[in-house]
Amino acid sequence: MTDKLIIFDTTLRDGEQSPGASMTRDEKLRIARQLERLKVDVIEAGFAASSNGDFDAVQLIAKTIKESTICSLARANDRDISRAAEALKDAAHSRIHTFIATSVLHMEKKLRMTPDQVFEQAKQSVRFAKNLVADVEFSPEDGYRSDPDFLCRVIEAVITEGATTINIPDTVGYAIPELYGNFIKNLRERVPNSDKAVWSVHCHNDLGMAVANSLAGVKVGGARQIECTINGLGERAGNCSLEEVVMAIKTRKDYFGLSLGIDTQHILASSRMVSQTTGFVVQPNKAVVGANAFAHASGIHQDGVLKARDTYEIMRAEDVGWTANKIVLGKLSGRNAFKQRLQDLGVQMESEADTNAAFARFKELADRKTEIYDEDILALVSDESIAHDNEQFGFISLSQHSETGERPHAEIVFTVAGKEVKSSSDGNGPVDASLKAIELQIKSGAEMVLYSVNAISGSTESQGEVTVRLQNSGRVVNGTGSDPDIVVASAKAYLSALNKLQSKADRVAAQG
Ligand code: KIV
Ligand code: ZN
Repeated sequence: MTDKLIIFDTTLRDGEQSPGASMTRDEKLRIARQLERLKVDVIEAGFAASSNGDFDAVQLIAKTIKESTICSLARANDRDISRAAEALKDAAHSRIHTFIATSVLHMEKKLRMTPDQVFEQAKQSVRFAKNLVADVEFSPEDGYRSDPDFLCRVIEAVITEGATTINIPDTVGYAIPELYGNFIKNLRERVPNSDKAVWSVHCHNDLGMAVANSLAGVKVGGARQIECTINGLGERAGNCSLEEVVMAIKTRKDYFGLSLGIDTQHILASSRMVSQTTGFVVQPNKAVVGANAFAHASGIHQDGVLKARDTYEIMRAEDVGWTANKIVLGKLSGRNAFKQRLQDLGVQMESEADTNAAFARFKELADRKTEIYDEDILALVSDESIAHDNEQFGFISLSQHSETGERPHAEIVFTVAGKEVKSSSDGNGPVDASLKAIELQIKSGAEMVLYSVNAISGSTESQGEVTVRLQNSGRVVNGTGSDPDIVVASAKAYLSALNKLQSKADRVAAQG
């Protein structure tokens, strides 16, 4: 058995299924590029047959990404599989991932099919996919709650048809590490041709054990592929978190004895990008990528770390993209220092124009804030006003007045299709007044389903990072904005969300 562990990232497919986490095609491409920098082996770019938007996103990613294998999900039917193959046609390395549910519950209640019908459909679908691409993955959905005898029959048949990866999902996050590890071990021992495929784990986090279950699937079960998402993004409680599972394998190489292709220095930038794009904030105490993950607050710990880092540190913050020197740049720093810092942080700008725009924003920020931290720089480069120059709405300026006992009032200037518009309104607070002033002009009718503010570097001097989630006609989008003034950050986030609601071409419908 090989000692190479394949990392299959499904942030853009399973992660995106999380309510409110839907992404535009361009956002997906940006994340796919970052995943390629991170050197993930397989990127599940979407579910091509689920919508035209998802098809376009898979196609664009397949055309652009050269190093990682690009995969599309497909239900076990000819139409889905053909759509996946069409979207993947230009990929340097492509994979079709086809699935059908195998648990009694799902077969009876959801599919209304007999086990024999499911067996036949699984076989035929893999045969059909194998005629279109060489690399075919098969998943028995709700596999962990399926009857092992039936599962062995299905798996043996699909491997005979040419499936190269067998993935065993714990679709509802019901597994316990020891039981899941043994479940996979047992299947591998019983399926006669099990050595002809790579075995894979896919764990949901409903009981908080997705990472532990995945690791048991590898260690006990002998799986050699882990399916995971950045920040553990995903439906309900999410998926196995890439950063945690990768750092567990790397830090405890003594125990797992496996090698990984991942360039871990890009982990933090990937986490920031996914969080910024989806508006799903990373909790401060989240392992590896949380703001406190490497902070030592107690005197005893600080003393120990100063004497010898390994007294309290099991991994080096630098290895996952945090830089040791936290206060990084100031007002006098030049373009080269800024570019160097981006490089140290593992950030690669798409073009020289984007670098220039980010540098201009950095200068603007440095005029208002004496110390610029890594987190400021990461927020600044992922600010959506850089990524989307030709948007319908753009922020220009804002003034607001609030005083105890008086109703706050805001005046805002912004652009609509390049034309300047002024508007003003009262509100319950300055943020409410500002967003009402925008809405008075735009009349989007959108419902706000989330508003959150995060202080980027922890103090009152820091930039506020605001996420606004809007819903309109069944479509949910996230807008983010950052600024030392949280009222301005809120207005930027609101305009960015409105831009996404406007851009019909970018629509990526919810997956079925
Ligand atoms: O959780 C699940 O079962 C899935 C399959 C489609 C692989 O995401
Ligand atoms: Zn899943």
